[in-house]
Amino acid sequence: MARRPLIAGNWKMHGGRADLDKLRMIREATRRRICETTDVLVCPPATLLAHAFEALEPKVAVGGQDCHFAASGPYTGSISAPMLADSGARYVILGHSERRSGCGEDDALVARKVAAAWSAGLVAIVCVGETEAEHAAGRTLAVLREELTGSLPSGATGDNTVIAYEPIWAIGAGRTPTPDEIEKIHHAMREHLSHRIGEPAARAVRLLYGGSVKPENAGEILAIRNVDGALVGGASLNAEDFIAICRSVPEPAAAPPRGGLE
Ligand code: PGA
Repeated sequence: MARRPLIAGNWKMHGGRADLDKLRMIREATRRRICETTDVLVCPPATLLAHAFEALEPKVAVGGQDCHFAASGPYTGSISAPMLADSGARYVILGHSERRSGCGEDDALVARKVAAAWSAGLVAIVCVGETEAEHAAGRTLAVLREELTGSLPSGATGDNTVIAYEPIWAIGAGRTPTPDEIEKIHHAMREHLSHRIGEPAARAVRLLYGGSVKPENAGEILAIRNVDGALVGGASLNAEDFIAICRSVPEPAAAPPRGGLE
């Protein structure tokens, strides 16, 4: 079953209204040919969501970068999943390593947020990834299995969940794993999902790679088997770079041959 590629931009804590022109550029450049075959998404800071919705939708989607696990309540400074949906967001990034390490989020909290996102009708982009030390110790797959098990409540499907593999040591670092490593890791993640949610659902879940994706390496990364798109940080702040990454998605006919659990 062919999965629709997804190119997602994560603006992190960058950008203001002066940057909305970038979104209009992205919309104009992708709305015809690219958006016919590929889902394009930008996750700006929450202050820009409503503006971004107007600048991008309906062809290019808008998403949040986090949400609270509760639908509403006395949580000063937090934003709930229904609020994101109300602003026009269709996706939300959850469990990004910058929130896991910077805001003390553990797998159990991420799982509660994922459930909240699903209840609000949002697609959860669940991030997992190992540290440099875990990578060096050969613990990558063990870490990913643990994070996937802990961060995903039961009920994940291809419609409500996207997984983003983001090696922490690659984020913003200008380095990436080798294509071989990415292929093995994504294959292992799909196998893990298959045990967890059954093969048909696992086959439908999109697996993104994130961590120093740039126009220069996007073509090679996006052609890897079981890589269904990219989560792009730094390069998504530059409209031309982000558009170039969207253009690097292989044509459906040129996709690698299918076979096995991919
Ligand atoms: P990067 O960030 O593309 O700047 O490495 C990726 C991410 O953190 O999602």
